[in-house]
Formats: sequence, structure tokens, C-alpha cells
Amino acid sequence: MVYFTIIFVSFVIAASFTGPLVFVFFTLIYPVLYLANVYFRRKRLNSAQPWSFNEKVILITGASSGIGKSLAHLCVKNGANVIICARRDEMLSNVAEECRKINDSVKVLKVKCDIANESEVSQMFEIIKTTFDRLDCIILNAGVSMGEQFEDTDYSIIKKIMDINYFGSTNVTHKALPLLKNNKKSRILVVNSIIGIIPIPLRTGYAASKFALRGFFESLQSELWKDEIFITMAYPGSVRTEINQNRLGSNPRELDLSDAVSSEECARILIEGISRGDKEILFTNRDKLIRLIEGVYPELLAYFAYAKAKKHVDLDRNKNQ
Ligand SMILES: NC(=O)c1ccc[n+]([C@@H]2O[C@H](COP(=O)([O-])OP(=O)(O)OC[C@H]3O[C@@H](n4cnc5c(N)ncnc54)[C@H](OP(=O)(O)O)[C@@H]3O)[C@@H](O)[C@H]2O)c1
Ligand SMILES: *[C@@H]1O[C@H](CO)[C@@H](O)[C@H](O)[C@H]1NC(C)=O
Ligand SMILES: *[C@@H]1O[C@H](CO)[C@@H](O)[C@H](O)[C@H]1NC(C)=O
Ligand SMILES: *[C@@H]1O[C@H](CO)[C@@H](O)[C@H](O)[C@H]1NC(C)=O
Repeated sequence: MVYFTIIFVSFVIAASFTGPLVFVFFTLIYPVLYLANVYFRRKRLNSAQPWSFNEKVILITGASSGIGKSLAHLCVKNGANVIICARRDEMLSNVAEECRKINDSVKVLKVKCDIANESEVSQMFEIIKTTFDRLDCIILNAGVSMGEQFEDTDYSIIKKIMDINYFGSTNVTHKALPLLKNNKKSRILVVNSIIGIIPIPLRTGYAASKFALRGFFESLQSELWKDEIFITMAYPGSVRTEINQNRLGSNPRELDLSDAVSSEECARILIEGISRGDKEILFTNRDKLIRLIEGVYPELLAYFAYAKAKKHVDLDRNKNQ
């Protein structure tokens, strides 16, 4: 009821931005578009079945902490063999140990690998080929963030974020595709972010990398449709992880994680989405609403981003006084 009211009020407000003709047209055909969407969603989900985690081989990037670690735990619990990769070797060993404790009848392969380093990624695929010679799913989760205004940001950070989040993930995909194509109904999960839909201030380089991922994988999905490879794009909001500690930049402002979901809960939702073969995963009704309004009435949401930016700039000014 609350959301219905919000939708209604936003449409009325939005009508004054877009002009009444667009508004009336959209409102009239909205139910038809909605039903068509339901039809195509069903079609996709039907062709994505049957598929289960049991005895599959899954590569998870960035599995040393946070969401990736929780995903590794859940994959093995569901009977999948996993290859886990990240740069911090010791933390990765701990995760591998935890996975073996959760399920001792699956294989857990840990590979120390910086996905932004092409030769390390190549080496990892050599190891995957000799150990399994098979991949049913890749989870592109490794990522870094930032938290400062662009004018204060060292430009190398913008490049570094792109190297890891975008070039790293797409390079892994390039090398994984021949293996993924050997099995029917293989999966690719991309851990994007709600910031890949609505960019908020202090995240220029991060938002760019997440938008790039979306463009890349939407295009790739149309190429891979004939091979029945299902790409799921997930847009989590705040998740309680180590992302704050791992932020790049000289003085990154911390994310407020007070109303964040746990990484376990996040991983559970992602695992269900992979299993079904969802096109995309939005975590809350608020996020779904944002997705809808952003597409139809872009000015509306942009205004909130400006307001938020203004608040941050004021905060920075106070801090410097
Ligand atoms: N936390 C949130 O609120 C949130 C919200 C939306 C989306 N996300 C996305 O979720 C993903 C996971 O983040 P998280 O929140 O779980 O943060 P996290 O705890 O910092 O985990 C990030 C993981 O990525 C790995 N990683 C970073 N750079 C890497 C590289 N060059 N090569 C290989 N692995 C690398 C890290 O391991 P090493 O440092 O050991 O390499 C770590 O395991 C990211 O893509 C992030 O953008 C997070
Ligand atoms: C462990 O993995 C096997 C498949 O190798 C699976 O059958 C089983 O359900 C998994 N789960 C647990 C908790 O053992
Ligand atoms: C990705 O692969 C290309 C070609 O193999 C390489 O030139 C580039 O450096 C790689 N980038 C990253 C970040 O791994
Ligand atoms: C990439 O990894 C290799 C092997 O670990 C290392 O020798 C090389 O210095 C790395 N390259 C970069 C640019 O970090």
C-alpha cells in the first residue's frame, strides 16, 4: 500500500516533468507492458531449468572476504565444487578451510590471483583446466570501491577501479567462455551494485565501472542466448562487508552500513537468483521502484542525487574549517 502510494505520487510529480502526453501514454499502456514482461521472464526462467548446484564447478572471484566468502560457503553447502580466488592468500586459505568443513565431499581449489593481472588470470585458468577441465558457473564478485569527490581523487584510482572491476571481470569471462560453452545452461553472475543503476556522489570511478559491466554483459547476453548461457546481473544495496576497509583513495568516506543486510543474506539471495537463472536481481521494493522511475522519469531521481551531493559538499566544508 505504501509503495503503491509512492508510485502513484511519483507518477503525478513525474508528469509535471515529462509532459502530460508521455505520462498519459505510459499510464495507459503500462499494464500491457507489464504482462509482456511477465511472459518473457517466464520464458527465460523455463529455459534456464533444470539446473542445480550439486556437483557443478563454480569459479568465484574475490572470495577472501565479504559477499564472495559467503557465496563460497553456500555453493559448497549446495554440493558444488569451487575455485576461489583473491589476492590475500592467507584469508583465502581460511575460506578454503571453512568450505571443506561445511562439505568434505566437494573439491575446493584456492588460487591466489589478482584479476587485474592478465598473466595471473591465465595461470589460474591453466590450474582450472588441469584440475577440473570444466566450468558450469562463474561468479564475478571481486571489486573495489571509493568514497571521495572526483576533484580530490588521484586519477590513478579511477583507472585502478576500472582495471579490477571491469577489465578484470571481463578478462576472466573471456577465458572462461570456452569452458562454460561445453555445458548446457551455464551461468554467469555479475555482482554489480545499486550504484550501477543510480549513481550517488563520491563514487565516480566506481559507478563508471559498474555501468560498464552492465553494458558489457547485457550485450554479451544477447550473443550467448543461442548457447543457453544465462547471465544474471545483481544490484545489491548496502551489504555489511569489509568494503569500507578496502576502499581506495586518501580519505574515503565510509559507507553507512547501519541498515545493511548481512553478507550471508545477500549471498542467499544471489544463489537463488543463479539457480532460477534470473536476468537481474534487485534486493528490495525500494530498489525496484528506483529502477522503474529512473528509466521513465530520470530527472526525478537525479534531483535526490544532487541533494545528497550538496549535503556531502557542506559536510566537507565544515570538516575543513
Ligand atoms: N558491500 C556493499 O555494500 C556492496 C554493495 C553493492 C555491491 N557490492 C559489490 O560486491 C562485491 C564484493 O564486495 P564486498 O562488499 O564483499 O567487499 P569486500 O569484503 O572488500 O570483498 C571484495 C573482494 O574482492 C577481492 N578483490 C579485490 N580486488 C581484487 C583483485 N584485483 N583480484 C582478485 N580479487 C580482488 C577482495 O580480495 P583481496 O583483497 O584479497 O584480493 C575481496 O575478497 C564488489 O564487487 C562490490 O562492488 C558491495
Ligand atoms: C555436499 O556435497 C555433495 C555433492 O558432492 C552433496 O550431495 C551434499 O548434499 C552436499 N552437502 C552437504 C551438507 O554435505
Ligand atoms: C585483459 O586482457 C587483455 C588481452 O589479453 C590484456 O591486454 C589486458 O591487459 C588485460 N587486462 C587486465 C586488467 O587483465
Ligand atoms: C603479474 O603477476 C606476475 C606473476 O605473479 C608478476 O610477476 C608481475 O609482476 C605482475 N604484473 C603486474 C603488472 O603487477
